[in-house]
Amino acid sequence: MRVVIANDHGGYELKRHLLSYFEARGIEVVNLGTNSNESVDYPVYGELLAREVLKGEYDFGIAICGTGIGISMAVNKFQGIRAALIYDLNTAMLAKEHNNANIIVLGGRTLTNKKAEELIEAFMNSKFEERHQHRLDLLGKLGEK
Ligand code: RB5
Repeated sequence: MRVVIANDHGGYELKRHLLSYFEARGIEVVNLGTNSNESVDYPVYGELLAREVLKGEYDFGIAICGTGIGISMAVNKFQGIRAALIYDLNTAMLAKEHNNANIIVLGGRTLTNKKAEELIEAFMNSKFEERHQHRLDLLGKLGEK
């Protein structure tokens, strides 16, 4: 499994924790920054992540800002990105089962480290349900208009 992660300063502490979490599980993780608490702009890191995920070389991406809202808006600007802000076990599972999200988004200031781990595990253990493919196709077409 290969994962790519990007965050602003509001997501830095959670990202640090998740790097250790993935390392402990032998999951390869590519870190696009930012790598300090110094204030940066989430659209910049959202763009870096979206462009990297669109290369198609990762199982999924993770975006983190303070709430997850701003960086969600940023990554979803890119055609082909389906980013889901997840905040409980239900949204974590449905983001995969119904939406086949290629980026999951976390709030660094709204989730504990443990809760974030639980959500990532729920997402990784879920499977996309093909009956929703038609809606994903319609979503993709919206981006062409
Ligand atoms: C940065 O202070 C904060 O606005 C950002 O991390 C995020 O929560 C925006 O949606």
